[in-house]
Amino acid sequence: MDTVYLSTTEQDLLKAARILQSGGLAAFPTETVYGLGGNALDPRVSEKIYAAKGRPSDNPLIVHISRMEQLDDLVRELPENARRLAEAIWPGPLTMVLPKKDAVPKETTGGLDTVAVRMPANDAALRLIDLCGFPLAGPSANTSGRPSPTMWEHVKHDLDGRIDAVIMGEPCIGGIESTVTDMTGPLPVILRPGLISPERITEILELPCSYDPAISGRPDPALVPRAPGMKYKHYAPKAQMQIFTGPVEKVAAAMQELYRQKSAEGCSVAMLMYKDSGEAAARLFADLRYVDEEQHVDLILAAGLSGGDSLAYSVMNRMLKSAGYNIIEV
Ligand code: TXA
Ligand code: MG
Repeated sequence: MDTVYLSTTEQDLLKAARILQSGGLAAFPTETVYGLGGNALDPRVSEKIYAAKGRPSDNPLIVHISRMEQLDDLVRELPENARRLAEAIWPGPLTMVLPKKDAVPKETTGGLDTVAVRMPANDAALRLIDLCGFPLAGPSANTSGRPSPTMWEHVKHDLDGRIDAVIMGEPCIGGIESTVTDMTGPLPVILRPGLISPERITEILELPCSYDPAISGRPDPALVPRAPGMKYKHYAPKAQMQIFTGPVEKVAAAMQELYRQKSAEGCSVAMLMYKDSGEAAARLFADLRYVDEEQHVDLILAAGLSGGDSLAYSVMNRMLKSAGYNIIEV
């Protein structure tokens, strides 16, 4: 199939909406990462999304809306806490897991009785959903297992010829995916850490907000993550990756030492270091793709984030997966 590349003008968004209305797939920008959009209410479209990404079909898709009213078509009962979070944060990088209505096909939710919903903070995405007239299922628009795309060029690299259209929006400002929060119980539980912190959720709801224990460390066979996607291999560059943790100066010295040693052995090495968690979030996936796909390095050395803030925690969650939990503590 020939993939068409579209801008974010009204005319081009209309073209994308036509494609989506006839059951096609179009990648679209959001504030977190690019999404692979398709009609969330059509089970055949969800199957096409899984096939294009090479994604296991038990891993549910996030449903993107542009207006609060659309929740009525998707969600059986909207808990009061969910309504408050939506009003405070949407449009924004928070995904809420809620009890689903029958209208949402099981194909979209990976067989689950719940649906994950979010309203993205990106004008082109919101307009596109409005023009379609239905919510868009939107997993990250990467081949399953690869780093999520933060620029349309990344989507082209992974999915050219496999989907109908790509909307060439701006690079994503957030750079890591939304915070997935289970809102079906009495207290909010974060199933995937992201750009919205548990402290922010606590501040809005005046309730404690915890992380799913299964996501806090190395994969443990005794703990099954409640977001099915968290159990898969993820964000992996082709190169081997090594993370260094510890005091900043020591980490820098250890990285430089290994860099010299490996380069002398004829190995091509890239180093990643960030000044803070915001910069790391915005750049990590793009940097991983650059050193991997453009520079074809054999080894990536990355400085872990020591900030201790919850964004650092979210970024480290991605870094550790990218590196297959390969850590040197210095
Ligand atoms: O920022 C984002 O969330 C991006 C942009 C495009 O919106 N989307 C995204 O989608 O990251 P995806 O499909 O790559 O990740 C969705 C995550 C997976 O870990 C999935 O298992 C979890 O959300 N999820 C989706 N529906 C769920 C549900 N009903 N219950 C539990 N986890 C769910
Ligand atoms: Mg993804």
